[in-house]
Amino acid sequence: MEEKVMDAFNKASNDYDKYRKQAIPNMEIYYNTVVKLTQEYENPKILDLGAGTGILTQLLHQQHPNSDITLVDMSTKMLDIAREKFKTTDFKYIEANYIEYDFNEKYDVIVSSLSIHHLTDEEKHLLYKRIHDILNHGGVFINADQVNGETDYTEELYKKQDESYLAKQDIPEKEKKILRQRRTLDKPAKLSDTINWYKQIGYRNVDVYYKYYRYFVIAGEK
Ligand SMILES: C[S@@+](CC[C@H](N)C(=O)[O-])C[C@H]1O[C@@H](n2cnc3c(N)ncnc32)[C@H](O)[C@@H]1O
Repeated sequence: MEEKVMDAFNKASNDYDKYRKQAIPNMEIYYNTVVKLTQEYENPKILDLGAGTGILTQLLHQQHPNSDITLVDMSTKMLDIAREKFKTTDFKYIEANYIEYDFNEKYDVIVSSLSIHHLTDEEKHLLYKRIHDILNHGGVFINADQVNGETDYTEELYKKQDESYLAKQDIPEKEKKILRQRRTLDKPAKLSDTINWYKQIGYRNVDVYYKYYRYFVIAGEK
């Protein structure tokens, strides 16, 4: 399954940035919610998990121009685009599966956007625990991701919303097909389970700062 996700993003990398707004409703407010949650930190050391081409990384860099930033992704081609975008910076890159990688540093701000929903629930829980372990005290983990509906009925509403949003976008049919295909690789968890896992692991001040159908931003502190 991980190979399928990696292949899908390697293939999508060239056109990835071009069609993001058409794939994600309210993209600006969604990503900016993450950035806003970091604004009290002064020059935080930042880790971006599943950073891809660096869309969120770029916004964080604008907010924290002197921060040390590390991007992790298992797709070489997605990271290559980030490397090109940020060639005048000294960002660090880790090309790895973040479930397996042995992180040996600690961070003040750990973020992830639209990546963790590719893991099984068991892997998500494990990752949330490992993120907690590598956060500095007072640090924060902010995740902008997708959830499953709390019931079959609400999941149906989410699916209808995903499809009606995509259907009305003025982009080539080929791109819509690619996005629909990629969605078959998604394994989002329920929001209620996610909040419970965070609390069980020991995150403090766990709260949801944005939610629009399946898109949400959650944060918890150490
Ligand atoms: C939808 S893209 C999101 C990229 C970026 N965060 C953004 O907001 O545009 C998901 C990214 O997560 C990466 N990814 C998924 N599972 C991963 C894993 N287990 N380890 C490392 N990267 C992973 C994919 O390769 C892909 O680049």
